[in-house]
Amino acid sequence: SAAEKSGYASFMLKEIAEQPKAVADTLLGRIDGSGTLSLDEVRIPAAVLREVDKVVVVACGTAFHAGLIAKYAIEHWTRIPCEVELASEFRYRDPILDQQTLVVAISQSGETMDTLMALRHAREQGARVLAICNTNGSTIPRESDAVLYTHAGPEVAVASTKAFLTQLVACYLVALYLGQVRGTKYGDEIGDVVRDLSGISGVVERVLETMDPVRELARSLAHKNTVLFLGRHVGHPVALEGALKLKELAYMHAEGFAAGELKHGPIALIEEDLPVVVVVPSPRGRSVLHDKIVSNIQEIRARGARTVVIAEEGDEAVVPYADHLVRIPATPTLLQPLVATVPLQVFACELATARGNEVDQPRNLAKSVTVE
Ligand code: AGP
Repeated sequence: SAAEKSGYASFMLKEIAEQPKAVADTLLGRIDGSGTLSLDEVRIPAAVLREVDKVVVVACGTAFHAGLIAKYAIEHWTRIPCEVELASEFRYRDPILDQQTLVVAISQSGETMDTLMALRHAREQGARVLAICNTNGSTIPRESDAVLYTHAGPEVAVASTKAFLTQLVACYLVALYLGQVRGTKYGDEIGDVVRDLSGISGVVERVLETMDPVRELARSLAHKNTVLFLGRHVGHPVALEGALKLKELAYMHAEGFAAGELKHGPIALIEEDLPVVVVVPSPRGRSVLHDKIVSNIQEIRARGARTVVIAEEGDEAVVPYADHLVRIPATPTLLQPLVATVPLQVFACELATARGNEVDQPRNLAKSVTVE
């Protein structure tokens, strides 16, 4: 009913708007002003976490994209090798698991059968399983060794939005916590990131306030057949997520690529007026990556692409090559997905609406997939 949607036209719009609160709730009570994390609910003893020699993330769909981003954070802050695998593929390839493996199963619903079967397989091999889940008392956390709840509140729309942002926050917390427990050389950086995270809710709020041009752009592209998404580093999974949103909501052909792969094939797809959304990494710090993506934008634009560039405020290098420029606040690289994903959600939702689609209940999809 309209009342349940608190005045929003759809649950999806409501849930997009709830993201600042959702990410704040996921952080609540887990970080303090001094930059220390306390995840008491993760009932895997610190001694066991110190022995972990491999992390394996399993998940499906949007939760899998959160896992892809988690890998960057986990490997950087803990120096523990991390693999990310589609839950539906995991147990069929005889994965290498033992008591020193930490499996992180990410699921909004906690009922996704593919993810459940992957974690059962992992536990049979002696691995410890930590669930990142949004639904209290659901099957996946019940069958795991420990759970970190995302506290996004109920997500009704089939397309995941606030659950994704809170999955990212939970993944960062797990990575930082592992780093803290193991005393990695990134100790100082961990304190800084914890402080950055504590301000992230306000940053997401600011992004939401600037979405009118994105909605307008989405409406102007509603007649298109294809949209491509490009990104590098953590921007690559963001591009995959942007494409998934457009497929499931707008029923359009959408694909996400690693920008560096363009020249290995996908650039052949570029034709006159093809919309290509590019997620640009911060020009600060990792400027090599930034420069490379700017030349990717130049290359596709020279071949006729209509470029939609998502770039940090103050990034002037992209301006000459952007047909449409979407500004996002400057954020540390690893946290950028928390802000860069938001315009892609708004874009897909608006485009789907302009095409006359039912955004909360896309055709052929169910909110949780309880069959393999
Ligand atoms: C997201 O928009 C999708 N509807 C879907 O990919 C979803 O993320 C996936 O099915 C996993 O669901 P879960 O998080 O409940 O396990």
